Amino acid sequence: MTDLSVANTAKRPTFDVEAIRRDFPILSQQVNGKPLVYLDNGASAQKPEAVLDAMDRYYREMHSNVHRGAHTLGDRATAAFEGARETVRRFLNAESTREIIWTRGTTEAINLVANGLAPRLKAGDEILVSYMEHHANIVPWQMIAERTGAKVVPVQVTPEGELDLESFTSLLNDRTRILAITHVSNVLGTVNPVAALMEQAKARGIITLVDGAQAAPHYQPDVRALGCDFYAFSSHKLFGPTGIGVLYGKAQLLEEMPPYQGGGEMIERVSFERTTWNTLPYKFEAGTPAIAEAVGLGAAIDYLNGLDRYAMEAAESALLERANQLVETVPGMEIIGTAKQKVPVMSFKIAGLHPSDIGTLLDQQGIAIRTGHHCAMPLMDFYGVPGTARASFAFYNTLDEVESLFTALQKVQRLFA
Ligand code: ALA
Repeated sequence: MTDLSVANTAKRPTFDVEAIRRDFPILSQQVNGKPLVYLDNGASAQKPEAVLDAMDRYYREMHSNVHRGAHTLGDRATAAFEGARETVRRFLNAESTREIIWTRGTTEAINLVANGLAPRLKAGDEILVSYMEHHANIVPWQMIAERTGAKVVPVQVTPEGELDLESFTSLLNDRTRILAITHVSNVLGTVNPVAALMEQAKARGIITLVDGAQAAPHYQPDVRALGCDFYAFSSHKLFGPTGIGVLYGKAQLLEEMPPYQGGGEMIERVSFERTTWNTLPYKFEAGTPAIAEAVGLGAAIDYLNGLDRYAMEAAESALLERANQLVETVPGMEIIGTAKQKVPVMSFKIAGLHPSDIGTLLDQQGIAIRTGHHCAMPLMDFYGVPGTARASFAFYNTLDEVESLFTALQKVQRLFA
């Protein structure tokens, strides 16, 4: 029998979640004959009508190439595109739009930085990452390490899924050149004490990058308060379109870095004798950019700015709290990642069940989660699991949906028991 009688002390959100859900057209559909319960927001979040409208309007009314045309449409497109850059600058509290580079996403942003910093690295230098990094914040550094003779060194994680701060401090040394660390773990939901880590790194002159892909959808990152040199995030996890992301970088470091890709837009002057680079941020934006996507991301941030961030965070905490309360109703269920500071991400296993079977059976009940290694194989090795099932919540999810998840998990568990 389904039992969700565990006391519910999770607070109902103070904002009108049903009204918010109406802003996201995709959420009101049925999947496999059941109301969609979308709990795969960590992989990619859904888009509000405001984003869809902004992109539609852009293509209907102002599309042209940017920074080039001697005509009105070109001016409109450029204004919308650069307006979105200013929206991102404000979102991150960066000093200048010169520090906001459009990329295809977090992955490209990290590759850009890794390549840009490569000339500073020599054999024996160390790049500090952690066991809880996404592959996007490991592999680009490994590729650069191979080229330069530098070494990628991982900071340990505690069994609860927190960054091991003793390991962190003990690994900082005179050879550490770069610290590349995630703000929030995509698997564990752990929020790392980034500002404190940056402070320690800065005291040693280490260049720092923060992977903000999983943090930006939950907290508004203030790059100046965090004190990082680089911060990267993706639009599609922040309720914006796919195909675009942001790299924030301190202007001085960006000035010193070589361009990442060559082509149009990123040059000042080209000749066969000598080619020179455009100013920031354009030096890093070769080719025609993702214009409609930038406009869409700007609209997503505007949409978020219109919500009460505190109420949103409280509502998300309530979702996680309710989920944690219900774990005991599913025999053999175990949470992976029980850090004190967490975003609403719940990785779990159920004794005797393969994560992919859990995912498939939930899908049949209209519930979307992610299963597998989550692009974090070193972390899976650390926990000795091939993969996990992961429910990742957003502010538009409801406590009823959390309960639907657990009712479904109980069914899945009984089926296999
Ligand atoms: N990095 C994304 C996730 O964690 C795709 O699901």
